[in-house]
Amino acid sequence: MTRPFLFGTNFKMNQTPSESAAFYTRLTETVKIPKDVNLFIIPPFTSLAAVTDAAQTGPDALWIGAQNVHWASDGAYTGEISVPMLAALGIDLVLLGHAERRRDFHETDANLNKKVHAVLAAGLRVLLAVGETAEERAFAVSEETVARQLKIALHGVADIERATSLVQIAYEPVWSIGAGGTPAKPDDIDPVANAIRRTLAAVLGEPGANVPILYGGSVDPSNAGSFTALSDIDGLFVGRAAWTVEGFLATFKASLAGRNEGDRVSG
Ligand code: PGA
Repeated sequence: MTRPFLFGTNFKMNQTPSESAAFYTRLTETVKIPKDVNLFIIPPFTSLAAVTDAAQTGPDALWIGAQNVHWASDGAYTGEISVPMLAALGIDLVLLGHAERRRDFHETDANLNKKVHAVLAAGLRVLLAVGETAEERAFAVSEETVARQLKIALHGVADIERATSLVQIAYEPVWSIGAGGTPAKPDDIDPVANAIRRTLAAVLGEPGANVPILYGGSVDPSNAGSFTALSDIDGLFVGRAAWTVEGFLATFKASLAGRNEGDRVSG
């Protein structure tokens, strides 16, 4: 089975509802989505209703995601958003475990595990972000770090078929993310992506091999293709470079070129 190719962006804490809806509409007017490819955008919560409204006539292959969710379906959790609230909006995907949430908002692997279960139970897709810090990399425990994050977040997932069809992993080394990050080299990414692949097989069995792994962290049109040429990388998760429609399209195009190059290299 060929794994799907995914490409998308997280707007983080940027954009008003009308800006996000305008982005969505312009993107659908300009992008050509190849058959086995899915695109996604992850606006802030306050933009989700405007974007899902704009998406009434949009392509199914362009998913709309939320940046986080609470594990409980309702209750006394001031400031939080539940899975049923997102499902009611027609959201396709929920991002869990982004490095900024782990670093600044005390997101733990154990809480992520509860969130993964809640999102999968509702039949929504999960984009689970994992990645080592600069310190963990310096101590040469990158592979152990992502394996631990994956094992805890996916612990107890029993419906393997559902999990393998709904889960995608974003490997984002923390040291490579954002304006202060150091762009990674494909050689840094390859062994860790491979460790992620092996861990998925250990946790989910053979079907785990079908779970897409995306790379993220200072991706732009100049380096996108070097990551998608790697055999374990099935797409990209982009921040700053894809926050304009032009930047999104240029980076997406470069990612597809790298993917084709990778196919040629691997025969
Ligand atoms: P960046 O962000 O592409 O701006 O480094 C990536 C991310 O945080 O997912």
